[in-house]
Amino acid sequence: MCRPQQVWHWNFPSLHRKDIAMSTPQTSAVTNTNGRLQGKVAIVTGAGCVGPGWGNGRAVAVLFAQAGATIFAVDKNAEAMEETIRRVREVGGTISAHTCDVTDSTSVAEMVAACEAQYGRVDILVNNVGGSAAGGPVALAEEKWDAQVDFNLKSVYLTCKHVLPVMEKQGKGAIVNTASTSGIRWTGSAQVAYAACKAGVIQLSRVVAVEYAKKGIRVNTVVPGQLHTPMVEVRLAGQRSGGDVDKLLESRVARIPLGFMGDGRDTANAALFLASDEAQFVTGTEIIVDGGMTARCD
Ligand SMILES: NC(=O)c1ccc[n+]([C@@H]2O[C@H](COP(=O)([O-])OP(=O)(O)OC[C@H]3O[C@@H](n4cnc5c(N)ncnc54)[C@H](O)[C@@H]3O)[C@@H](O)[C@H]2O)c1
Repeated sequence: MCRPQQVWHWNFPSLHRKDIAMSTPQTSAVTNTNGRLQGKVAIVTGAGCVGPGWGNGRAVAVLFAQAGATIFAVDKNAEAMEETIRRVREVGGTISAHTCDVTDSTSVAEMVAACEAQYGRVDILVNNVGGSAAGGPVALAEEKWDAQVDFNLKSVYLTCKHVLPVMEKQGKGAIVNTASTSGIRWTGSAQVAYAACKAGVIQLSRVVAVEYAKKGIRVNTVVPGQLHTPMVEVRLAGQRSGGDVDKLLESRVARIPLGFMGDGRDTANAALFLASDEAQFVTGTEIIVDGGMTARCD
């Protein structure tokens, strides 16, 4: 269940259950050297995290900053962004934070306008807000279904709605959405709204990709599998295994052919490729980051 040697340029400890709370990063000697996103402005939604450590949005913000992007970090919880801001600055990156609920159209419009006012453009949008609620159609209350749709799918629609006109004006842009393997497979529990919404994110991305291809805007999706992010301890163990974190981790890793769980950094590496000009011929598609989990059928 050990994560192999890092390919990242800084020496953060690998994220195991015990080091989540104490993951003290070492500042890297190597920052902004590759310049894969040099000069670009990136909005990252859900740039905080539910706990200390490598959530997906935090990892995207730090890696993109390291690649030269200016980060416009967005989260409804200002406190959750503090660690992200600190880590971005530690790698020599530039970041500003904006508090916004991305399920609210007015707030999203104001957020995009604030980014444009501050930096004059939006080159990259990474949609990272989302999360699961347990239950199939019978168990899941109707209001929870509606809340899941707002949280996981409407949020993506809203940011696209307000960012696309800016990118169209520029004649260029890249959107990277975050789905989940729950959007393409059964992943161990009935979470019907989450699964349906994440499938929706994948198809929303494909449709927008084709509609906006001629305008120079690419839209792709990262599909993370069962990661070990702080969310596992903070929320999922309560939802799935009566609070027993070890039991949950064991059941998750048992499904993964590579034999270890990734974390937000693995999502970020895929997102970096999709957001960069190296992916200039890549749109309307997905990168699955799951250690081989969805390839198996046994
Ligand atoms: N963690 C995993 O194992 C995993 C696996 C597959 C997919 N994903 C997807 O990755 C994304 C991020 O998950 P995570 O577990 O890394 O994140 P997380 O839950 O740790 O953090 C998400 C951040 O989003 C913020 N947020 C919540 N609601 C918001 C709103 N309405 N407006 C603005 N900000 C809001 C939270 O304050 C938090 O800081 C989600 O879309 C999730 O579905 C996660």
